[in-house]
Parts: sequence; structure tokens; C-alpha cells
Amino acid sequence: MKITAITIFPDYFAPLQLSLIGKASQGGVIELRILNLRDFTTDSHHTVDDTPYGGGAGMVMKPEVWGDAIDSVLAEAVGIADLVILTPAGKKFTQAIATQFSKAEHLIFACGRYEGIDSRVTTFYQNQKNLRVHEVSIGDYVLNGGEVAALAITEAVVRLIPGVIGNPDSLVEESHNQAGVVEYPAFTKPPEWRGLKVPEILTSGNHGAIANWRAEQAEIRSQNANREQE
Ligand code: ADE
Repeated sequence: MKITAITIFPDYFAPLQLSLIGKASQGGVIELRILNLRDFTTDSHHTVDDTPYGGGAGMVMKPEVWGDAIDSVLAEAVGIADLVILTPAGKKFTQAIATQFSKAEHLIFACGRYEGIDSRVTTFYQNQKNLRVHEVSIGDYVLNGGEVAALAITEAVVRLIPGVIGNPDSLVEESHNQAGVVEYPAFTKPPEWRGLKVPEILTSGNHGAIANWRAEQAEIRSQNANREQE
């Protein structure tokens, strides 16, 4: 899978060299490219933003610069690309969307800053062939830009690509595989820590009883997790 991120802060993406995503990149499972948006400016100040039409606070990212940057990526693209525009106004990112993106040929992240990217960029690319456009938010809070959102999405997506996680079984019983359902609590050695004992049933050797207990615990945790979101 190709992953291209367009940003004014390429350094934000350094963590993708680490851990499993770093290995996937070094091993060729993903082909990662980070483009500096300012390389697509044409003025001596490398301006990427301007004041909003209609007035108001903040700055809006200029469509010409974004258009030139995205066009340069699409010029090299083969097949269908998925353009992911990060914005708190987008569709909420979920495990289901991560699964959908994990089958993409080429994910292109457009990391906006300030008050976002001129809205015509989304409209224009929605009408282009060989491209799907997604406006995506990672949650109901406002970040300073899309970079951290792109990192989170990349990690959630790349770990689902076959071969990235050593033991694919760990992807089977995982939180959020079903919407609203989270995993049972986990315990390891020692059997007692700071006065807290591991639930006896887990050391009983009774696999049926353990499975039932875990299902019950997952249900309780799921109810709590969903309640906390309200
Ligand atoms: N940019 C700023 N806030 C964001 C959010 N919550 N999700 C995605 N992109 C963003």
C-alpha cells in the first residue's frame, strides 16, 4: 500500500519509522512518502494560507497550493487513490473505516492546519475519476492540525494489513471489531500484585468457564465504554 501525507510539518511523521509500522515501511509492505506542502507554493514567502472570505478569526489554507500538491501525487498514482482530508468536521473514524482503508491501494492524507483547507478542494476532487474523497475526524475535539489524526489513522490501518502483526490471531478478538464492543480485561503474572489477585477463574484451566467469564466482562466493559462516550 502506498501512503502519502501532505503537511507543512513533515517532522510530525518521524514516529512512523518506529515499531511495527517502521518495519512495515522498511520491509516494503507500505511505501510511505511525506510531502511538504510549502514545496508547492509559488511565492517567495511560501504562503499556504489567507484570510477567510466572509470574515472571522483564523486563516484558511489556499486551494491552489493544495491543488498543485494533490495533483502531483495523483500524476504518479496508478489505480484508485483514497484522499483522506483530516478535519474535525469529517466522518468519525472507526475500526470499520480502518478495515476499509486497509484494503486501499493508495491513501493520501491531506493534513490541514489553521481553520482548515478551502472547501473547494474537497468539492473539486470529489468530482475526479480514480479517486475517492473522505473527510475524516478522529474524534469530537479540535487538534491544531491533521497530522496527529493522520498518524493515528495510519497506525490503525497498517496493523490490519496482512503480515504486519506477527500473530494475526491477535486481530481476531479485538476491541471494536464489532461496533461498540470492547475486549475483556487482561492479566499476566504475578498471580498477586499489590494485594490484587488475578481472577481465580483464569487459573482454573476450565476453558469453557473462562470463555464465558470473558464474554461477561467484555459486555460490562462495553456498556461502560459506551456510557462514558455520552
Ligand atoms: N484536525 C483538527 N482536529 C481534528 C480532528 N479531531 N480529527 C481530524 N483532523 C483534525
